[in-house]
Amino acid sequence: MAKEPVRVLVTGAAGQIGYALVPMIARGVMLGPDQPVILHMLDIPPAAEALNGVKMELVDAAFPLLKGVVATTDVVEACTGVGVAVMVGGFPRKEGMERKDVMSKNVSIYKAQASALEKHAAANCKVLVVANPANTNALILKEFAPSIPEKNVTCLTRLDHNRALGQISERLNVQVSDVKNVIIWGNHSSTQYPDVNHATVKTSSGEKPVRELVADDGWLNGEFITTVQQRGAAIIKARKLSSALSAASSACDHIRDWVLGTPAGTWVSMGVYSDGSYGVPAGLIYSFPVTCKNGEWTIVQGLGIDEFSRKKLDSTAEELSEEKALAYSCLT
Ligand code: NAD
Ligand code: LMR
Repeated sequence: MAKEPVRVLVTGAAGQIGYALVPMIARGVMLGPDQPVILHMLDIPPAAEALNGVKMELVDAAFPLLKGVVATTDVVEACTGVGVAVMVGGFPRKEGMERKDVMSKNVSIYKAQASALEKHAAANCKVLVVANPANTNALILKEFAPSIPEKNVTCLTRLDHNRALGQISERLNVQVSDVKNVIIWGNHSSTQYPDVNHATVKTSSGEKPVRELVADDGWLNGEFITTVQQRGAAIIKARKLSSALSAASSACDHIRDWVLGTPAGTWVSMGVYSDGSYGVPAGLIYSFPVTCKNGEWTIVQGLGIDEFSRKKLDSTAEELSEEKALAYSCLT
């Protein structure tokens, strides 16, 4: 029997990530090839005409899984009945700006949209915040929507995770799908810690540690980390726009694995609320290694953290605590 459609909200849908993301969702990349969807697209009034253009293109593309499109500038209409909410709307970082510069513009949007989601979304709606500062916007959303379970509010660090897989695959000249279990710890910012200490590569003689195959700790502890940390800025410099197709694709990966589960023996990185695991202050939205099953994520426990890693986990946590304080100061 055909499944009931899931209503999927994309905020900022007239923007560049939105334009890449909505056709992926309508094709089943996010929720699976047998899951019909109804797209709810929200943007602000100055973008209403462009948003309507996106709706026209979705109709023209005749996606078999797409059972309806709501294109609106009304946040209540946008949030009503949604089972998945991908929060992309906001002001993007431009060349030369740090994420903190976009803080005041974006946290007030997330406070307002938190209430609309809390009141009008489906029970158990899964929320993914993409707009920067992603971790702190998600934290504000969680704190101003207290009736949404805290496990349901997450932020996107899967793009950073995928970037780390990509760098290792290029360095070793192996398929990216053969590399697994990198970790992004912390903030979706230049303080994030891309960690390969537990990562492996599938080879003809079994799984081998990335550290053994790369055999260059100088590169792994230096250039590899800074390349992943700075990749967003490098894309902005090259495109004069922030990453869009990779962000949209990673958002699909994030929700797909959360809803449908991670493959056996594999973890992914998600920004989730900290329960104090690995000494990370409880309550921050921090990127951890997680596995997903039956629609629930669980932080991978018991991984060894060496002294080098400890410092990096702590400094990105410190930045998130500072961002939290700054966000609250922007809201008052
Ligand atoms: P964009 O400017 O092209 O699109 C943003 C859209 O949001 C615009 O259409 C704008 O009108 C809309 N918008 C603004 N305020 C809104 C509101 N209150 N409600 C609904 N919509 C609103 O930007 P983009 O390139 O699509 O990037 C979107 C966000 O995603 C930015 O904050 C960017 O920094 C962030 N981003 C995050 C990641 C990540 O990995 N977490 C990756 C890339 C980009
Ligand atoms: C990215 O990582 O590409 C985005 O978050 C854009 C940015 O501001 O770095």
